[in-house]
Amino acid sequence: MRRLYTFDTTLRDGEQSLGITLNVKEKLEIANQLVKLGVDVIEAGFPASSPGDFNSVNILSREIKGITICGLTRAVEKDIDICAQALQPADAPRIHTGLATSPIHMAKKLRMQPHEVIDTAVLAVKHSKKYVNDVEFYPEDAFRSDRNFLAKLFEQVIAAGATVLNIPDTVGYATPWEFGELVSFLMNNVKGIEKTIVSVHCHNDLGMATANSLAGIKAGASQVEGTINGIGERAGNTALEEVIMAIHTQRGLYGVQSKINSREIAPTSRLVSKITGVPVPSHKAIVGSNAFMHASGIHQDGVLKEKTTYEIIDPEMVGVPRNLIVLSARSGRHALKHRLEELGYDLQQPELESLYKSFLDLADQKKEIFDEDLHALMGYANIEKNCINLINVSVASSGPTIATATVTLEIKGEIQIDAAIGNGPVDAAFKAISRLVGIDTTLEDYSLRSISKGSEALGDATVKVKHADNEVFVGRGLSTDVIEASAKAYVNAISKIYALCSDKDI
Ligand code: KIV
Ligand code: ZN
Repeated sequence: MRRLYTFDTTLRDGEQSLGITLNVKEKLEIANQLVKLGVDVIEAGFPASSPGDFNSVNILSREIKGITICGLTRAVEKDIDICAQALQPADAPRIHTGLATSPIHMAKKLRMQPHEVIDTAVLAVKHSKKYVNDVEFYPEDAFRSDRNFLAKLFEQVIAAGATVLNIPDTVGYATPWEFGELVSFLMNNVKGIEKTIVSVHCHNDLGMATANSLAGIKAGASQVEGTINGIGERAGNTALEEVIMAIHTQRGLYGVQSKINSREIAPTSRLVSKITGVPVPSHKAIVGSNAFMHASGIHQDGVLKEKTTYEIIDPEMVGVPRNLIVLSARSGRHALKHRLEELGYDLQQPELESLYKSFLDLADQKKEIFDEDLHALMGYANIEKNCINLINVSVASSGPTIATATVTLEIKGEIQIDAAIGNGPVDAAFKAISRLVGIDTTLEDYSLRSISKGSEALGDATVKVKHADNEVFVGRGLSTDVIEASAKAYVNAISKIYALCSDKDI
């Protein structure tokens, strides 16, 4: 079996998604989970792009040990210098440098001749090699590049010291047959390629990122790049969990083996969704909440007779344990702890006690408590510890659009009440909260979805708000009452701004 290296770019390409900004603490939390998942490389950011990205790459290099930490650069000396400085504390640093090679990008974006692109690529690799041994080169928009030109360029960057050759389908234009063919062509026509690791990096504009990556692996690539839940620019990147489970399910077909611990897939997916505020669609392959549900009678009958009639993956393999007990208001602490442990949460006595209270509150409103409810309660266990807490929100509507909200908050231990009028109850509640806290924001995004089943299902609200210097803050709130869930989410986001601003003038 060939070794397949997994390169996770959730924190770089994933973070480039519209509306996602991660701070260092959030990146660290995701990176620690990626280590548990067993990825080989974490691309932590693009250090020259902002001081925040520099900081993230630098701190992850210091804190995350025993795995490769990678930083992205353009093929520009200054970028490479900054990246090398950020990666300095890493155990195994990698510089990922490159520039575009397709005719359209070279002519219109770079305004460079092909020979200038090759010279720049070689200089960038040589410059990177002054700092680190492990240098990955990316020819951006490789799939739309001339393959003979690509082969020539790869030979030159190998000679300059590149250890990994990336083949990006930057705009998600490829189909599996063509992409596999391109990888085969390069494997057979680039001198010295056998000394390098060949990597595939696909985007999902035509919904084929996973299929293209698999075609690349079958054609000889030994590194796959992707993100958790497939987040990324436009339609996203290859979803790593899909590639991992495809090569596991069809082991004989690909002849490769990764060192991923597949049981960490579901926890990683949940964490990334919680921190980025990007929900996972219920039908999403491998990690969607319906991915292992059987609804139709014929399917249910088949599964009851023999699971594998309709189940190609054992849910436990991806960290979704089977549930034999239904939790309700009558369940005790022991049953709750037992199920939480099966779901991967290890709670000590004081946390269990406070979670049990939230569990009972919820169980009073819902007949049955499902795993999704427990994940949500766990996800919100920390969020509840805001420096601002929602005590109460009540709304009155006057006419189809105008509403008044009265909000009670606890701000640093002090109870404060105010009311505001808004365009609907949620808007009115947000306005009252802003007034009470004294922070104005711009609402970038607001979404509400139901967790688990039934009319008393929990509402999970996510807000993304922008504050003064354009930083985006994500807040989430949970309640069986949708207005309360929305208000909680807004309080959660505004608390983060408040905590940052409390020493400054707001
Ligand atoms: O899609 C792409 O081309 C990239 C490169 C920077 C590797 O993300
Ligand atoms: Zn990309």
